[in-house]
Amino acid sequence: MRVRPRRNRKNQVLRDMVEETFLSPAHLIYPLFLQEASLKPFAIPSLPGVFRYNQDDLAKEIEECITLGIRSFVLFPAVPDSLKDETASYSWQSDNFYLAAIHFLKERFPSINLMSDVAMDPYSSDGHDGLVRDGEIVNDETLPILAEMAIAQAQAGIDIIGPSDMMDGRVGYLRDSLDKAGYISTSIMAYTAKYASAFYGPFRDALESAPKAGDKKTYQMNPANKREALIEAQLDAAEGADFLMVKPALLYLDVIHLLKSEQLLPIAAYNVSGEYAMLKAACEKGWLDYNKAMPEMLLSMKRAGADVILTYFAKDFAQLFKEGL
Ligand code: PBG
Repeated sequence: MRVRPRRNRKNQVLRDMVEETFLSPAHLIYPLFLQEASLKPFAIPSLPGVFRYNQDDLAKEIEECITLGIRSFVLFPAVPDSLKDETASYSWQSDNFYLAAIHFLKERFPSINLMSDVAMDPYSSDGHDGLVRDGEIVNDETLPILAEMAIAQAQAGIDIIGPSDMMDGRVGYLRDSLDKAGYISTSIMAYTAKYASAFYGPFRDALESAPKAGDKKTYQMNPANKREALIEAQLDAAEGADFLMVKPALLYLDVIHLLKSEQLLPIAAYNVSGEYAMLKAACEKGWLDYNKAMPEMLLSMKRAGADVILTYFAKDFAQLFKEGL
């Protein structure tokens, strides 16, 4: 036998030397759930280890994360039902606790990268990402609402706008609206290939934002489709996106790989709530070793082509990374 692949695996120095994929906390975005100022931390049952925090508790959490090397965060609001309506009007109101928190956090931690969520569902009495009319999610009438939301977030100081709504044409519409309002440097991370997945369940528990009727299949993608992701990617790139995202991540590694090979923009992968929950559950049962399985899971996304990973594992990964993995 002349060719013996095992020779390059014979000790740690050699293994380190030929290692192909690197993952560090610099590549991670940590999702955080924000609630109103008067509320105490709430442990989300289907997301063990993840909490809903008010602004002050969130600041403490971010401070801890910064010491571990995490510098990017995506913020989701848990809006009380009393503030929800059909047009998601709370999303751009000036006394909105989400916008206030963006302002507060950016002032307190100027060096972090803060990303928002742009979609109607956290604020909508219908629980859909777009405007509902006669049972239908109407596309073009949703766009000005999303733009209003995005401009309010830009004004509050957000670094990256994250349209997660999957309406057609929204990236271009948001780009034009932001530019017109003077926010030419506010980035857009497009949820490009966002699938109608069962793995968002725990997230919807966290925000109590599940649709009141129907499902999201008329706007989120069919899990059976891959080539269609290229159409979305071409559109988002042409419309001015700065990042293209695939969501979920673990179940769609082939789509991450495809977008990475076909597109030139950085690729993000959203390791969603259900992917987190299933690994956590197996580890809690003692069926998998968390400190080994978790980094392996994140590495698979990086290896598939993700430049950036949004993950609830970010803090635990950063802790392990600090300790030398
Ligand atoms: C909604 C939104 C969802 C997630 C992020 N933004 C859920 C959905 O589309 O219903 C899911 C994130 C996760 O599961 O971790 N705009």
